[in-house]
Amino acid sequence: MEVVVKDSYEEMSKLSAEMIAEVIRRKPRAVLGLATGSTPLGTYKELVRLHQQEGLDFSRAITFNLDEYVGLTHDHPQSYHFFMWENLFKQININAKNVHIPDGTAKDIPGFCRWYEEQIVKTGGLDLQLLGIGGNGHIAFNEPGSSLGSRTRVKTLDDKTRQDNARFFRSLNEVPKYAMTMGIGTIMDARQLILLANGAGKAEAIAKTCEGPITAIVPATIVQLHPKATIIVDKPAASKLSREYPAEPRILVLA
Ligand code: GLP
Repeated sequence: MEVVVKDSYEEMSKLSAEMIAEVIRRKPRAVLGLATGSTPLGTYKELVRLHQQEGLDFSRAITFNLDEYVGLTHDHPQSYHFFMWENLFKQININAKNVHIPDGTAKDIPGFCRWYEEQIVKTGGLDLQLLGIGGNGHIAFNEPGSSLGSRTRVKTLDDKTRQDNARFFRSLNEVPKYAMTMGIGTIMDARQLILLANGAGKAEAIAKTCEGPITAIVPATIVQLHPKATIIVDKPAASKLSREYPAEPRILVLA
């Protein structure tokens, strides 16, 4: 696991986008695991720029999103389907057939979860998984206490997560209570991880993730066991770390 502390959100976003771009340049049919939330927005903006100005080609790339709220239709402005199309897919040359996002409206949810896992395996497995982190240390929607070996399934959202995410909805009542999410085991199977965090609100969770003991109570701590994980943070998110960390990764692209 490598921790990289950047001066600004823009610099964090540039680095993560460059790492993703490098994976696609090396392997045009790369299988990318993507995340939602406000944190990866800068990365997506930079990927769009790389596509539009530097010709980064997504035509063969395959994507799998981490999670989706149960019950929100694809056109709901707070659904992760809507988020991904608005903030990334509409602006790059991805083939819609290669986009996979958990379907929170699926009639047979356990069946859908199994199918999702199978599709990841069928396409060759995730080459890179991008992650944000919740204020309570969750990754995707794997809330504290989630099995560290879990697979794609439905989780009940923590009150803290619903409160944190209420800013995107008209009221707390409108925030769904359940989400479909890749499991921690699913995420850990990816060949490379990038975890992003910015802002002082993430400082506690980042200190535990990087320097605390591995525990299901802080699901993100599992990344310590991943052989190719890069945690990219800004200075406020790094403010509770006890050690000094570099501003550049030792290895930009991992073979
Ligand atoms: C949601 C998502 C997570 C994300 C987290 C943090 O709960 N399921 O994948 O990491 O929010 O969101 P933000 O980046 O907006 O702080």
